[in-house]
Amino acid sequence: MRLLGASLLLAGANFFAHFAHAVDMEQKKPIPISLAELYQDQFDIGAAIKSEHLDETFRRQIFLGSFGRLTAEYEMKWGQIFKENRYDFSAADKLMDFARDYGIKVTGHTLVWHIDHPVRLFENAKGGKIGKAELRQRMRQHIFTTMNHFQGVVDNWDVVNEAISDKEGEVYRRSEFYQIYGDQSYIVDAFRFARQADPNMELWYNDYMLEHSDKLEKLQEFIRYMKQQRVDLAGIGFQGHYSLEWPTIDMIEKAFQLVIKEGLKIKVSELDVTVYNDYLDGVFQPEPEKACDAPLLAKQAQRYRELFELFRKYKDHIAHVTFWGLTDETSWLNGVVKGREDCPLLFDKSGRAKPAYHAISQFK
Ligand code: G3I
Repeated sequence: MRLLGASLLLAGANFFAHFAHAVDMEQKKPIPISLAELYQDQFDIGAAIKSEHLDETFRRQIFLGSFGRLTAEYEMKWGQIFKENRYDFSAADKLMDFARDYGIKVTGHTLVWHIDHPVRLFENAKGGKIGKAELRQRMRQHIFTTMNHFQGVVDNWDVVNEAISDKEGEVYRRSEFYQIYGDQSYIVDAFRFARQADPNMELWYNDYMLEHSDKLEKLQEFIRYMKQQRVDLAGIGFQGHYSLEWPTIDMIEKAFQLVIKEGLKIKVSELDVTVYNDYLDGVFQPEPEKACDAPLLAKQAQRYRELFELFRKYKDHIAHVTFWGLTDETSWLNGVVKGREDCPLLFDKSGRAKPAYHAISQFK
């Protein structure tokens, strides 16, 4: 009945798709059969949102009609909450109040990242470069302040984001954190500070393109290093910024299996499926804009269907799957190539559920 109910309800979804609720055809009223409910026996389903989205009724309804978890797309980042030498959590707190009001789970994103950090994070009062001891203290202060502020709402943190290098032969990104420390031990400090700040918090490492064989090898080296340092690492966040073809399902599965073998959990933390293939032989060669027409949307739906077949196969190891955005027109991918629109998500610019939404909403 549940499946029949779901498919029957979803059959009417187009009619109310604007609100992303399924419809009971007899009752002619929306029934909030959300993705989060459909997947409640599998893993949490979330979306990254911005506080400004909460000011728009249709966006709130799309979120509440489908998702049970949220990530602040940017408003909990160090560079956004610490400006002019003071913390201002107001934008992030709008999201936290919304989460509290509706019982939405929250992923904390992200404590230590080489992007979107305070402009003068690495500078001393004279404008010179700080040393390791000062950076360590600043990191500790930030992690304690931020985790304490969001205590009770955030149930897992991306402690460090994107510390593994994309460069051949280099395991760790030569970020300013790495350069000032002289090695990757800033990562260990970040996790230890996070553990001291909250003895019970789930602490994750988050990164992209971990499915690429080179980066997967580096991930394994990173996991071994964290184990050797006795760091309490809950799991690995696979960002999941995928295209229609890359990475293959096999590559993702191989990466999942490696993490599982290391005894860690998995989350897909920033899922979207771009309709562009901008990398030919590893070189960025952006494609011209293409219309998100029915054939392309059908291809994207099939891609999402295959991804979610894999995620459901590993449901015992996957904590959550979070989409990186709500509707196509607010996706970060629209900024990747100036003036080029993408359509990577489940809802179109008018908030209507796309074929991709239905492709993952119906399963045995
Ligand atoms: O909304 C403000 C606007 O009011 C202001 O006028 C404008 C100029 O300052 O900034 C706008 O905020 C920008 C926000 O995106 C709008 O969405 C922030 O400056 C800008 O930093 C922010 O970029 C975010 C980026 O991370 C850096 O934090 C993107 O939204 C977000 O999608 C992107 O997400 C990252 C993940 O955290 C890590 N993985 C990669 C992913 C994509 O880059």
